[in-house]
Amino acid sequence: MLSTTKIIELRSHKHQFGEKWLDRPASNCYTQTRMNPPAIAIDGPAASGKSTVAKLIARELGYTFINTGAMYRAVTWYTLQQGVNPADTEAVKALLPGIPLSFGKDGANSTVMCNGNVLSAELTETAVNDNVSAVAAIPEVRALLVDKQREYNTTEPVVMEGRDIGTVVFPNTPFKYFVTASEEVRAARRAAQGLTDSIAERDRKDSARACAPLVMADDATLVDTSDLTIEEVVAKVVADIKSKI
Ligand code: DC
Repeated sequence: MLSTTKIIELRSHKHQFGEKWLDRPASNCYTQTRMNPPAIAIDGPAASGKSTVAKLIARELGYTFINTGAMYRAVTWYTLQQGVNPADTEAVKALLPGIPLSFGKDGANSTVMCNGNVLSAELTETAVNDNVSAVAAIPEVRALLVDKQREYNTTEPVVMEGRDIGTVVFPNTPFKYFVTASEEVRAARRAAQGLTDSIAERDRKDSARACAPLVMADDATLVDTSDLTIEEVVAKVVADIKSKI
């Protein structure tokens, strides 16, 4: 719950919305990240449009866009590179302490690097698509990456997209959106991107896992993008965020 004091502080800092937020005094408007800048959580299934929407919201607000799926994909890619079977949980865990991945930024977007080289096309290889759910189900992998995800928000406001951002990474943020679309619409969007992985199967695995499954947070706002344009979705979410700042 927000205290009265916090609500007043929140209102008095309304003019600092956007890039100037970082200049604000250390106090902030919600408990878990009281010392941190705002975190906008965008969760949802594969090909729901959440990446596109999250990127545009970040641009509109002047926040950094963080693609957490790319982080899980990078660990999966590295696992495969090492010749380790992603289904062999103990072997994947053994790779983690020395993993040469780093998570940074290029302008307003997050980047993933391996030994200093930015990873890009590698992250959507078929083998990565097929194995990322298994790797993302390993609690030790999630713990490592959740720490990195929170680190981004210690210094800057973020729009972060994934599966567990509103439930696990930033459970106390008041800015939670669960973006979805019908299965037909999602399959068509995936095909238009030239990707043919089985999103229904991946969503099933992501939703069924024991650790941080894909579920909508109780206090998230549901955004169905099936019959809306990207612009309409972005405008709706940005208006909601601004009404809460
Ligand atoms: O967003 P994406 O399709 O690139 O995500 C790839 C996989 O990573 C997805 O199948 C589930 C996993 N993932 C996750 O478990 N938690 C996140 N926060 C982001 C992605």
